[in-house]
Amino acid sequence: MQNKPFPKLVNDRIIKVAKGETPDKLPVWVMRQAGRYLPEYQELRKNNSFFDICQNPELACEATLIPIRRFKVDAAIIFSDILVVPQALGMKVKMVPGVGPVFPDPLTLESMTQLNLDGAISRLQYVGDAISLTRHRLNGAVPLFGFSGAPWTVMCYMIEGGGSKTMSKAKKWLYCHPDAATQLMDLLAEVITDYLLMQIKSGAQIVQVFDSCVEHLDRELYSKYGLPQLKRIASNLKQQMEASKIAVFIKGAHICVDELDSLGYDVVGIDWTISPSRVGARVGDRDVTIQGNLDPCALYAPKEKLIEMVERMIAGFGTHFGTRRLIVNLGHGVYPDTDPEAFKTFVDAVHAVRL
Ligand code: CP3
Repeated sequence: MQNKPFPKLVNDRIIKVAKGETPDKLPVWVMRQAGRYLPEYQELRKNNSFFDICQNPELACEATLIPIRRFKVDAAIIFSDILVVPQALGMKVKMVPGVGPVFPDPLTLESMTQLNLDGAISRLQYVGDAISLTRHRLNGAVPLFGFSGAPWTVMCYMIEGGGSKTMSKAKKWLYCHPDAATQLMDLLAEVITDYLLMQIKSGAQIVQVFDSCVEHLDRELYSKYGLPQLKRIASNLKQQMEASKIAVFIKGAHICVDELDSLGYDVVGIDWTISPSRVGARVGDRDVTIQGNLDPCALYAPKEKLIEMVERMIAGFGTHFGTRRLIVNLGHGVYPDTDPEAFKTFVDAVHAVRL
């Protein structure tokens, strides 16, 4: 299985747009598209724990394919989680229903020395195996995204021990223990780079770095700690895998709108708080593809209103830098109480736009 060549890609809209080429239709996919809003996923979850699905390539592949069978999305994203990286470094993580991820022993300054970098990538080989299997099963229908969390976002969860409204414990490291924070982020950047390279070698046609906790930082802190790490990951990936396409999603990107085209990524995903015209005006016709950014709550709106919002968003981007450098997505992952019909409306509305 591993040695057989992968089937030829049929729908290459996303890869084309990431390269700056013009597609036949605007591409669309959705972060967290394989998840709890779909009954098939809930069925799969009845008999399997979250991390069991992640660690079993057959089940991870099945979860990845659920939205592909249902919707005409232009990409698949491998079923996994950003928290498999701290697990591979030796930390325990549980997924508690109704709560989310919980680390029984969050990272402290003292426990940092116990993080085990040696062999971390081989402990993540199951993700590579799931990617290879899924590339074959997709049979070239759409490209497959691999992904990882960004150093700042992964560090937040490791130190907080789960989600948090403020990420104040993680931020405390930036203010009180800057050397330890830098050391931790350097370590994470190294493992994340190697992890993404392994995913690319396993068959991911594009990889995305999720920096989901940037909204908690101001410009100064992000410029000092977060952005240099993102740039480093991009330049190392490009150095070793020049041809592969790389994307980043920044939740809180309003603090770095000026820099979106200088991060080294082919695609930059932005959250819904940034108006399309603002990004368009800044990015102009420079060399980056924008991904986003409809409010996930827009999928609660009545059908006609939702279609209108999709059209307005695309027009907003298009008037400034030409819709050819746009991958349509939501401004964050799809919410668990979204109606699958609304998801379909969203996808179909994007494809109905004439370029
Ligand atoms: O996009 C996809 O469909 C691929 C799979 C994927 C998951 N998590 C599956 C998941 C991806 C890309 C992620 C990324 C992720 N995980 C991020 C970055 C993106 C973002 O949304 O900001 C973060 C911060 C996490 C950490 C995480 N995992 C949290 C905070 C939670 C709980 C809250 C929530 O939204 O569910 C998870 C759980 C999780 N990850 C689920 C799924 C399908 C639900 C778990 C379950 O089935 O019980």
